[in-house]
Amino acid sequence: MALRTILTAGDEMLQKKCRPVTAFDDRLATLLDDMTETLLQSGGVGLAAPQVGVLRRVVVLLDINKDEEVVELVNPEVIEMNELEKTVEGCLSVPGKYGYVMRPTHAKIRAQDRHGNWFEREGDGMVAQCFCHETEHLDGHLFTEKVLEYVDMEQE
Ligand code: NI
Repeated sequence: MALRTILTAGDEMLQKKCRPVTAFDDRLATLLDDMTETLLQSGGVGLAAPQVGVLRRVVVLLDINKDEEVVELVNPEVIEMNELEKTVEGCLSVPGKYGYVMRPTHAKIRAQDRHGNWFEREGDGMVAQCFCHETEHLDGHLFTEKVLEYVDMEQE
C-alpha cells in the first residue's frame, strides 16, 4: 500500500465528473488499498478518488456508526435520504474550512464492492452526510458550493 497525495481546492481534477469503474481488477484493488491508507492517515472520515487525482467513481469511508469499519464504495449512488438538517461539514481537500450545509440524518447508498458485487448500506448522522459528500466529489462538486455559513472552529 502507498499513501497518495490529497489534492486541494483549486485543482481542476476536483471539478471533473468521474467515469464509472468497469474493470474490477488489481489496479482497482491497489487504488482502494492506497485510498484506505491515505484516509486513515489523514484523520478524515471519507475520501473520493478524484481527491487523489483518479477520475473514477470510487470512495472509501469510515462507518463511525459501526466501529469505524472501512467501507469501499465503487460506483456509489445515494438511493434514499430523509429530510435535511443543518450540520457542520469539512473536507480533506478544503483544509481548515468548515461550514453549515443541509444534509440528511439518514441515507441509503447502493454501490459495488471491489469484486463488482452490488450491495446496499444505510447510515445515520455523519455517515449519511459522508455518503452525500463523497458521491458529490465524483461529480466534481465540493461542499463549499453548499455552505450556508462558514464556522470558525477555533472560536467555537
Ligand atoms: Ni471531501
